[in-house]
Amino acid sequence: MSSEPLLRLENVGKRFGGMTVLHEQSFSLAPGEILGLVGPNGSGKTTTINVISGVHPADEGRVLFEGREIQGLPIFRIARLGINRSFQVPKCFRGMRVRENVEVAATFARRGAADIEAILAETGLASHADDIAGSLTVNQQKMLDLARALATNPRLLLVDEIGAGLNPAELGGIATLLKGLAARGIALIVVEHLLDFLNRVTDRVIVLGAGRMLFEGSLAAASKDPDVVAAFIGG
Ligand SMILES: Nc1ncnc2c1ncn2[C@@H]1O[C@H](COP(=O)(O)OP(=O)(O)O)[C@@H](O)[C@H]1O
Ligand SMILES: [Mg+2]
Repeated sequence: MSSEPLLRLENVGKRFGGMTVLHEQSFSLAPGEILGLVGPNGSGKTTTINVISGVHPADEGRVLFEGREIQGLPIFRIARLGINRSFQVPKCFRGMRVRENVEVAATFARRGAADIEAILAETGLASHADDIAGSLTVNQQKMLDLARALATNPRLLLVDEIGAGLNPAELGGIATLLKGLAARGIALIVVEHLLDFLNRVTDRVIVLGAGRMLFEGSLAAASKDPDVVAAFIGG
């Protein structure tokens, strides 16, 4: 048995031009664990997901997945290793049918063939499988983004603000879905502004402020932490 976490970031830094947007980020994640990532707009949440999933290479530090350094690998290689993500703004192929979108994503699967029909069912898209993706609502496109990520058989799933704009019933459905994925051993990093939603799926959060990790621990403790409170009220 290995004590190696599934994912480990070691002093990861990211700059855009002259601006440092991530400073010395270090944290780990175990298989089947759900980590919440919170922070004000522009605090570096999406950039963290972009660095882990290979959209942007880290400028400093190391990203280890199953003990192996992955920083600098292209997105498709990282996907094949078992990391995939959904996007804050959904990125499906709008001219293709829903099922075809998921089938294309499945060609990047880590191993084996994904069960496309099961994924369409669990993301609530079964009745829209033959619809053109561009005709879906934004919320349905977010679910399609998630379905596409699931089709790659991920071991680590990164979910960027999937809850915005959803009603309580839809949020409840997604919370159940995410917890079910974790129960199957998939680790998740969930970026979310909706703290009630986050509270339903995880107890452990990292709070970012201006690219720095301000806090790591329970959501309840985070809300009482002076640095966290200051970051959210702009102090
Ligand atoms: N591709 C990019 N080029 C330049 N700056 C970027 C890019 N992506 C993000 N940033 C900047 O990095 C900072 C963090 O952004 P982001 O990670 O999107 O924040 P969050 O997701 O927490 O709202 C912001 O100042 C943003 O403007
Ligand atoms: Mg973001």
